[in-house]
Amino acid sequence: MNIELTEEQLAVRDAARDFAQNVLKPGVIERDENQRFPAEEIKQLGELGFMGMMVDPKYGGGGMDTVSYVLAMEEISKIDASASVCMSVNNSLVCWGIEKHGTEEQKQKYLVPLASGQKIGAFCLSEPEAGSDATSQRTTAIDKGDHYLLNGTKNWITNGGTASYYIVIAQTDVEKGHRGINAFIVEKEWEGFTVGAKENKLGIRGSDTHTLMFTDVKVPKENRIGEDGFGFKFAMQVLSGGRIGIASQALGIASGAMEFAIAYSKEREAFGKPIHKHQAIAFKLADMATEIEAARLLCLQAACLKDQKKNFDKESAMAKVFASRVAMEVTVEAIQVHGGYGYVKEYHVERLMRDAKITQIYEGTTEVQKIVISRAVLA
Ligand code: CAA
Repeated sequence: MNIELTEEQLAVRDAARDFAQNVLKPGVIERDENQRFPAEEIKQLGELGFMGMMVDPKYGGGGMDTVSYVLAMEEISKIDASASVCMSVNNSLVCWGIEKHGTEEQKQKYLVPLASGQKIGAFCLSEPEAGSDATSQRTTAIDKGDHYLLNGTKNWITNGGTASYYIVIAQTDVEKGHRGINAFIVEKEWEGFTVGAKENKLGIRGSDTHTLMFTDVKVPKENRIGEDGFGFKFAMQVLSGGRIGIASQALGIASGAMEFAIAYSKEREAFGKPIHKHQAIAFKLADMATEIEAARLLCLQAACLKDQKKNFDKESAMAKVFASRVAMEVTVEAIQVHGGYGYVKEYHVERLMRDAKITQIYEGTTEVQKIVISRAVLA
């Protein structure tokens, strides 16, 4: 793996950094407090090409590599993990899935507006009783000839209320187990589709998380993604790519918290000198920097493998397990560096600590990642 970044990759990182610091930072505390989705900011991210970064320009995307995506996700997540999860789901789960497995017609109709940031997408797998055990889908899509009839409930759906297009995973033949699962593109305006209440969450409070209900929604046959029965493998593949995004989000939450801690340690004086001159603080910063660097290398390794079209399932799972643990540890320590100030909202680190926790849960819990990793090392 070549870890020397190209000029293009550095330019992407700098553009994302500028956007996070100048556009996202001013309102991020208020959005978190009021659970307000960063609608205008996401629109601007789309205009900058960050909502379909890796999509071929012929479908409205940025034509960038996964390494650039990791760099951008880190910078955006340093400030606003609610914006970055919207960006991650749209890029990794929705755009990548449709580009890799969609028909040309699906790409023209759905990928072009999604990749160019005109529309937002959502990925609907989790259900009240099917989270980690993704084969136990209760949502059904019954084949009615020229369409499927979709019925069921999906939980914890990122971009649930703001998306226009939804990839919905559903059981089409319960007898066939995971081979009887399919993925469908569903439009918000279709009859029978209801967006439920928004979740009131611990962290990523600006992100738009909803329960969704489908009652006799008619899904045209041409909206199935891939061959009949491909839905479970499709979900596993896109989630594997998605885990690079969430690992990078965790990395950004950690490195953002460290940057706040470093800045504060230079301003704050105690016992006659800036607190970073006390080893108790300097050693905390050294530990943070070391862990973050290791997390970054794991994210970049998974991204490089994906860019080289090699298998990255184990590496993306490793990056997610490690970076999300680092995010929890570093954000807690960043609050400690701030002392009492770290416990109040104006100093950002308490929000980052609350945001960090979800990275150990969504797109596969830490325990799910360890299933993936242990199966790979034991194979
Ligand atoms: N790529 C392609 N195929 C894959 C694959 C991958 N990465 N992983 C598994 N498969 C295939 C297997 O080869 C197997 O196919 P065959 O039977 O033909 O060989 C099939 O899928 C079944 O695989 P497993 O036997 O491994 O399936 P399992 O039931 O044991 O499940 C699991 C494994 C890893 C626990 C999986 O269920 C899983 O990842 N669960 C977590 C789901 C998840 O991440 N949920 C998050 C929701 S989405 C979200 O959070 C988005 C958001 O809004 C932020």
